[in-house]
Amino acid sequence: MSETLAVVNCSQLVTLAGARRPRTGGDLRQLAIIEDGAMFLRGELIEAVGRRREIESLLPGDCEVIDAGRRVVLPGFVDAHTHPVFAGIRANEFEQRASGDTYREIAARGGGIRATVWATRAASMKGLVQIGKRYAEWFLRAGTTTVEAKSGYGLTVEDELKLLRAIKQLNDETVLNYVPTFLGAHDLPSEYRNRRQTYVKLVINEMLPRVTGEKLAEYCDVFCEQDAFTTDESWQILSAARCQGLGLRVHADQLSLSGGARLAAELNAATADHLEHTDATGIAALKAANVQPVLLPGSVYAIGSNHYPAAREMIDAGLAVVLATDFNPGSSPTPSMPMILSLASTQMKMTPAEAIAATTINAAYSLGRGDEIGSLEKGKRADFVIHDCEDYRELAYFFGIEHALQVYASGKLAFSRN
Ligand code: NIG
Ligand code: FE
Repeated sequence: MSETLAVVNCSQLVTLAGARRPRTGGDLRQLAIIEDGAMFLRGELIEAVGRRREIESLLPGDCEVIDAGRRVVLPGFVDAHTHPVFAGIRANEFEQRASGDTYREIAARGGGIRATVWATRAASMKGLVQIGKRYAEWFLRAGTTTVEAKSGYGLTVEDELKLLRAIKQLNDETVLNYVPTFLGAHDLPSEYRNRRQTYVKLVINEMLPRVTGEKLAEYCDVFCEQDAFTTDESWQILSAARCQGLGLRVHADQLSLSGGARLAAELNAATADHLEHTDATGIAALKAANVQPVLLPGSVYAIGSNHYPAAREMIDAGLAVVLATDFNPGSSPTPSMPMILSLASTQMKMTPAEAIAATTINAAYSLGRGDEIGSLEKGKRADFVIHDCEDYRELAYFFGIEHALQVYASGKLAFSRN
């Protein structure tokens, strides 16, 4: 018989149990909270959730029991948009923005993504894994157990493969779960400045077949933006990726209304991400094509903008909204989902409940893992967190502190604050 474990004395066991689909409209506020809840685990999986009395009556004599001390227990956060493997940092650019420069101006003069590309090309895979492990711990201690992880700081065949292999190694060697995304079209490398189409062909004809041949990615993403790839170039890359069996995600309408949301809809992408500048037509197109919006308020906050995406309009339109950190060294240097919950409530007027659904169950569905993670239900993976509070709303309300006390991944302790 496999190992058993129980968690009892949860002030709120926030299960997010419900219909097996991403949450929209009023369902985003239904967290299926069990007061005085408990959970019974067998090995890596959840066996039962319920009231304490009910669960205690099921426990075998040798079951290990964790007392949550009347605290909140939540599924591990699922961070559906991150760039977690890169070399170097860009604190210099942060300082320049504090002195009045904009993110776009800094990128236009050779900083931005390109600065990280130079540093990342110079790093070995071993070095990248070592750096990545430090960030993996940051995610875990914030209560995140699964991250989507993009390449995109290599922009040569070998350097993109190096990043994706580093992600694979991090998935094998840390307790954090990584879902890999190929982002060879993150920026036009400077050596291709006057040969745009040559680079697009390199991505399609050289990179994609190697990436899929080695099974290094589940999704393909493109930065569709005036400053990066046009909608036409993005279409070429994404449709080739789809033919090779990858799911699609798109950096869309981040810095301007570039047409990324409409492109994501046209291609039936899994997600359209950012959407700071998406208009009503774009929102309607996402709805018609069932594309999930992934909103990244950390990247608005950290570049010093106040142009947040229209979350309320998207929820009113019936979209299954996701929230993520966009962790990266430029626009969003935070791995903290609690920080994102705070921004979602204060800047985008999402209720704490909506924000929790967007960072757990909806995020899991956006990664094709809605049946495995994102809620605490029988048969799902035992990824859960004991947060040091009594009411789940405190996660968004008290900001700038660490809430997670103990983090479990696949039923095993992955992080403990003491
Ligand atoms: O999602 N927009 C493109 N990519 C990242 C920024 C990456 C960087 O600045 O290094 C984003 O914001
Ligand atoms: Fe991003």
